[in-house]
Amino acid sequence: MGNDFRKLFDEWSHTYDDAVAGQDSEYAAVFARYEEILKETASRAFGTVVEYGVGTGNLTKFLLHHADRLLGIEPSDGMRAVAKKKHPDVEILPGDFFTIPKMAGPIHCIVSTYAFHHLTDDEKEKAIGLYASILPKGGKIIFADTIFSSEEEKRKMIVEAKRKNFWRLAKDLETEFYSTIPTITAMLEKHHCEVEWEPKNEFVWIMEAIKKGD
Ligand SMILES: C[S@@+](CC[C@H](N)C(=O)[O-])C[C@H]1O[C@@H](n2cnc3c(N)ncnc32)[C@H](O)[C@@H]1O
Repeated sequence: MGNDFRKLFDEWSHTYDDAVAGQDSEYAAVFARYEEILKETASRAFGTVVEYGVGTGNLTKFLLHHADRLLGIEPSDGMRAVAKKKHPDVEILPGDFFTIPKMAGPIHCIVSTYAFHHLTDDEKEKAIGLYASILPKGGKIIFADTIFSSEEEKRKMIVEAKRKNFWRLAKDLETEFYSTIPTITAMLEKHHCEVEWEPKNEFVWIMEAIKKGD
């Protein structure tokens, strides 16, 4: 993650919780049912959990009910500071999706919300390969994020954002690395994971991938 990108998140850390509460009308549909999405994502986790892209620590709150042990990874200093204030007892380290913390015993679950789209598809495949290599059989990758059923569906949502004059959202959809379900499913299957998808709003799906035996 470059310095400019990190700075953007440092700045966003002050108002991020207003955006997820629906106060940014352009992003209201992206964050529709936000708390429910985080709660459900967290409820699928167990054992030793690593959370990536912690942000302001909103998912962390729910993961604490399900994880035996929880460690967060977040590249932005600003986001980390807000999250640490909410969860002083949770270890939240600087790093990115490729940072695998040293923990006592195996990591059972890799969990993240609204963050995996920051990786290009090549990077996503590398990260999935890395997680599949460290998870035990039955271990899980649980992500909630914006993703599309097809490239055509993605194009339709961009046109729709422009029709509504949601120019920031349209630019975001065009420039971030939002992927498609078939693309990510193929990556997971290649790395011996079985995957299920559940739509949660117009943009966000929950993905639960379970590591099979080799
Ligand atoms: C939209 S926020 C989501 C925060 C939180 N997970 C939530 O659901 O509200 C995206 C977060 O991902 C982090 N992020 C961006 N690029 C990342 C990367 N390469 N690895 C890990 N985290 C990243 C950002 O710093 C930011 O905190």
